[in-house]
Amino acid sequence: MAVTAALALSIASPAWAQVLTDEQRSAAKTANADPALAPDLLLSAKDMAWWRDAKLGIFVHWGLYAIPGKGEWHMFNDKVPAAEYAKLSQQFNPRHYDARAWARLAHEAGARYMVMTARHHDGFSLFRSPSSYGGYDSVRSAAQRDLVADFVTAVRGEGLRVGLYYSPMDWRFPGYFQPKELPDNAQLMKRQTYGQIEELMRNYGRIDILWWDGGWLAHKGTDADAAGFWESDKLNRMVRRYQPKAVINPRSGWQGDFDVAEGGSPITGPIRARPWEKTFSINRSAWGFTPDKNTLGADEVIVLLVNAVVRNGNVLANVSPDPDGRIPADQAKTLHGVGEWLKRHGRAIYGTRPGPLQPVDNVHGSTQSGDSVFLHILSWPDEALTVPITGPVHDVVNLSGAEVTWRKEPNGIRIMVPPASRGAAVTIVEVKGGNAVR
Ligand code: GLC
Repeated sequence: MAVTAALALSIASPAWAQVLTDEQRSAAKTANADPALAPDLLLSAKDMAWWRDAKLGIFVHWGLYAIPGKGEWHMFNDKVPAAEYAKLSQQFNPRHYDARAWARLAHEAGARYMVMTARHHDGFSLFRSPSSYGGYDSVRSAAQRDLVADFVTAVRGEGLRVGLYYSPMDWRFPGYFQPKELPDNAQLMKRQTYGQIEELMRNYGRIDILWWDGGWLAHKGTDADAAGFWESDKLNRMVRRYQPKAVINPRSGWQGDFDVAEGGSPITGPIRARPWEKTFSINRSAWGFTPDKNTLGADEVIVLLVNAVVRNGNVLANVSPDPDGRIPADQAKTLHGVGEWLKRHGRAIYGTRPGPLQPVDNVHGSTQSGDSVFLHILSWPDEALTVPITGPVHDVVNLSGAEVTWRKEPNGIRIMVPPASRGAAVTIVEVKGGNAVR
């Protein structure tokens, strides 16, 4: 059978692959998508509004790679032959998988959407997939069920928006690594992508987000460089047929409805014009499960969230469930910390738009909503901060502590918050009526 032949071929790993770190590899994929390619598929500002209001989503990287616990790149990094790796599917029996518990946790974290890896680069599908090459899906694994179906129902039931991650490329195909030399095999992989995307977009009701990843070829160049191979305009046109309102990211080579910035590095610079999303893993070691508890704390996530939101961005924070389907307790703790913080500061985050002040890296940024400006203060150069807000301010409220004093000055307003009334990670001050800037 063709499947066996393909699986038997070992993965060719080019020499350069070993010298790049995961972070560098991600950076190398940054889209340089052609804005002239299928602009008619872009969502309207109205259809994007819920996503821009939502600000926080939870990403879930889960699959066979949870079992060895070496991260989702294990198969490629450790050169595990596809047939050998595939044996994991007969061990994959996540008895504690409870999608409702995941969705509840995301809700408690203050997230408004959740995105799950329906299929990662290893090729194993977490859903019933007749189009899967070699029948490599969770229904035919020890789990014997459609894990995506449970996820979609649970997330919707919790009142959150539903997102699915899908990697067009699949390491099981030698044609992925050598598309020129093995064009037929590469076409087989492409056919699988079209078939599986049709399944995902057709069989699970409304899908709010389609999160592509890994559109590039042979781990070279960018996603956009491979747009011709995937015919990503055609691919996303099919998506739109089933899901006319899905928010689509740019990682299939088509420009997508928003930009993606990947990894946990600090966020700096001015407000970005295009909606964008910072995505990083709360498990510092990998996106997929690793047992080492190398976990970001709530304050670190909050700083990333604030720095994204003041620059027109969202955050998609990833968790890594274990082989049994449980989100590790330390990751859940971080999410609960973020949720507690959002209960108190949500007014300055959800539904806001950036500005009116440009952010000053590591010092402050701002959001606005209605007649209020929210200052997100990350550090205090002095005992006070003066910002160039000159509107008819009628009140200033400290969301992070008891005290705040302020006064108008010729060049703006001077705000003083004593150290005991500052937040641990960030102090948020609401300037009512301040929505006018010099
Ligand atoms: C990288 C990795 C992948 C991960 C993704 C999330 O592209 O290839 O493992 O799923 O980042 O953004």
